[in-house]
Amino acid sequence: MKKLIIGNWKMYPASIKDAKAKFSGIKKVASGLRNVQTVICPPSVYVGDLKKIISGHRCVLGAQNIWIENEGAYTGEVSPAMLSSLGVHYVIVGHSERRAMGETDELISKKVVAGIKAGLTVVLCVGEKERDLDGEYLKLIAEQLTIALRGVSKKDLKQIVVAYEPVWAIGKYALRAATAEDALEASISIKKTLAGLYATAATEVPILYGGSVDAKNAEEFVTKSRVDGLLVGRTSLDVVAFTEILKKIGNLK
Ligand code: PGA
Repeated sequence: MKKLIIGNWKMYPASIKDAKAKFSGIKKVASGLRNVQTVICPPSVYVGDLKKIISGHRCVLGAQNIWIENEGAYTGEVSPAMLSSLGVHYVIVGHSERRAMGETDELISKKVVAGIKAGLTVVLCVGEKERDLDGEYLKLIAEQLTIALRGVSKKDLKQIVVAYEPVWAIGKYALRAATAEDALEASISIKKTLAGLYATAATEVPILYGGSVDAKNAEEFVTKSRVDGLLVGRTSLDVVAFTEILKKIGNLK
């Protein structure tokens, strides 16, 4: 299976000129990698312009968030149908930075369904704020998954990707980067939860790791944690470092 590497640009960069330059630089490398599917999730205002410089299917666009309806009186929101009409293929749902702004598991569950209905592949983020010695965090992840996937049938699973992102390992104020063992344990636990919900159909759901991924640790997460790809924040804005990740993952046997 191709590895899935997703760049979450968050609210960067500050100009379309810079966004185009970064996207072009990434695309140049990504287009040559047969074993990697690259997805860049820019701020949605940039999607229309970046779409024009896409060529082929190895480097495509995703969104960072969606609303639960396709049209309506929802000031400031962007709908799944709008993104899909612009040629967006993926959407991140339930990112911890959105959860911190008040998104509940229930709202996330509605967004997951809305994304699927619009034909998008939903990258569902789950992860604990902190770890405890009794493994309660694994129960919390299971609960996040179970609620978020409430409206998702077996046949919808081909549009689901789960990203394990421990909140304590995300961003420049992260306590520490997770170890490959941390990510392996969580990914095994996520697979168990998915198997409980969907039986063998669950094996087709790709699992990603995200949180302080960089060019040094990327390969280890993929090989030792046995995840199907990575969700990369800060480093996805650094064209040199991000394309190094793409090349390293693309060269894995
Ligand atoms: P980071 O962010 O790679 O900058 O830690 C990851 C994310 O928020 O998806």
